[in-house]
Amino acid sequence: MCGIVGYTGGKQAYPILIDGLKKLEYRGYDSAGVALLQDRGVTVFKKEGKVAKLEAHVGVSDVASHTGIGHTRWATHGEPCDRNAHPHLSRSGRIAMIHNGIIENYAQLKTELLKEGYVFHSDTDSEVLLNFIEDIQIKNECSLEEAIRIALKRVTGAYVILLIDQAYPDTIIAARKGSPLVIGIGQNEHFLGSDASPMLAYTKEVVYINDYELAIVKPDELILKNLGNEIITPYVQKLDMELAAIEKNGYDHFMLKEIFEQPQTIFDSLRGRMDAQKNQITLSGIDAIADKIMAARRIIIVACGTSWHSALVAEYVIEELCRINVEVEYASEFRYRNPIISSEDVIIAISQSGETADTLVALENAKEQGATIYGLVNVVGSSIARISNAGSYTHAGPEIGVASTKAYTAQLAVLQLIALKIAKLKGTIDDQKFTYFIQQLDAVPEKVQWILDNQVEEIQRIAKKYSDANDVLYLGRGYNFPTALEGALKLKEISYIHAEGYPAAEMKHGPIALVDETLPVIFVATKDSYHEKIVSNIQEIKARKGKIIAIVSEGDNRVEELADDIMVVPNCDEIIAPLLAAIPLQLLAYYIGVERGLDVDQPRNLAKSVTVE
Ligand code: G6P
Repeated sequence: MCGIVGYTGGKQAYPILIDGLKKLEYRGYDSAGVALLQDRGVTVFKKEGKVAKLEAHVGVSDVASHTGIGHTRWATHGEPCDRNAHPHLSRSGRIAMIHNGIIENYAQLKTELLKEGYVFHSDTDSEVLLNFIEDIQIKNECSLEEAIRIALKRVTGAYVILLIDQAYPDTIIAARKGSPLVIGIGQNEHFLGSDASPMLAYTKEVVYINDYELAIVKPDELILKNLGNEIITPYVQKLDMELAAIEKNGYDHFMLKEIFEQPQTIFDSLRGRMDAQKNQITLSGIDAIADKIMAARRIIIVACGTSWHSALVAEYVIEELCRINVEVEYASEFRYRNPIISSEDVIIAISQSGETADTLVALENAKEQGATIYGLVNVVGSSIARISNAGSYTHAGPEIGVASTKAYTAQLAVLQLIALKIAKLKGTIDDQKFTYFIQQLDAVPEKVQWILDNQVEEIQRIAKKYSDANDVLYLGRGYNFPTALEGALKLKEISYIHAEGYPAAEMKHGPIALVDETLPVIFVATKDSYHEKIVSNIQEIKARKGKIIAIVSEGDNRVEELADDIMVVPNCDEIIAPLLAAIPLQLLAYYIGVERGLDVDQPRNLAKSVTVE
């Protein structure tokens, strides 16, 4: 989390930095700041709150500069306030630094510096690192670059740091370990960012910086080194992304735009991978590790947040179709609990950003123990994509809204393909069934479009009706149990209403005590093999006067009669149903958030890319 940007070149840096920060605000929005190299030295502007507040604070100040760095913060060490905002200035006032990550041994470094008489103006670990670097530079009488190298060898934790120093005109020095950093290459100019969005308007040539690499960036030069001071040749890649993909294109919010993009994004995630005629699925990533999968004693799926919910759906689908044991793990638990892993395990990592710190470290640990890593990632070139042995991209395009929508359904779509592909490899599915599922998947984009064309008005009405709720219960069974969890998560994130997802039958073991005439209970009750059971669960809630809102399959009059309100989805196979049922729940959360007057794209306290543990 935290977004970082940098620019050095012939243009004015300030507007580029501000625009870049706005694009990176999804990574955190507790405070924002920029540092500019000007003729008189380094100038810092910073302010608590969003980038717009920073702009107002800067006002008509002199911001003329061709080299600068900017930061948008998600607070870890120290409350969100002006004082703790980045950039920080070193004791001499000569060097400014921004930081994304956590310096774990900062307390020890701080104690050493305090003894030397350093005074700190913030509560951040970042200011400690900056002064540690300057202290080394002064004591060793060395260059800033050398001082950074020495300092980073003593630092534990994760970081991307960008520094400017008035002694080095036009120069930004950057280093990375564990947090993302992309450098864009322009004509006599360079751009730096946590992702490529700040540079997309200017260049499509980028270099993804790796852990333990240090970049010395000048307008006409990019020098990459490792911490041992050896030169590394930058690997320049071409971005396959258009600017329109990261703009709202007339929608009120990115979240709404991304919900409405789903017919296309699901199509894109399936495109070129299914061939109904040849009865074939092409996933080169699975082919690459086919022998490992065939020999695997189990598949472990590791993820966080919404991605963890798609992992749960995959567990049900893969076990059903492939008859192989699947375990789903929260990355944050998996990485610390000393799990038993061997070379006979295949690990599927699911991550929209490809940068989630817990997932990344969990994978590194598992890889060290010999497991094969398969990455299912949305952001091309991200850290998880790069450390995986093989993988598939979800091809959902950039997701900017903090609450995940289109990335989730793209994950579900590709996971279905993965399950079918493995089933075919293992011979656990016959040709007829295989063709049937391909046809079912093929029809999903059209069915999602039907929901968007026919249900939005009704969902808006339902959102209005329940927008004052204090608690909402989401219930589902089987393939749609994870849908209930995801629906509840969406509502929590966007509306700040307390929501819980539960397996519908398990509700009797606790949550039923919450039911009274004020409690909305959302049932994911599409037609499937559990249908009779969930109808009974609806009756149980109704008998206790709970308000029933149901997602039903088209033509299901029975649930319609029982429910207070319904949201309809087209009929489909139960395995595919989570792909459709997610859509009304995303819309419901969105419209409730809007109804409550909240910032749905940037909900409080959240960040899209969680690069700290
Ligand atoms: C954050 C985001 C969620 C996301 C989760 C995992 O919490 O707000 O939307 O599901 O991180 O992120 P990942 O990028 O690994 O899917």
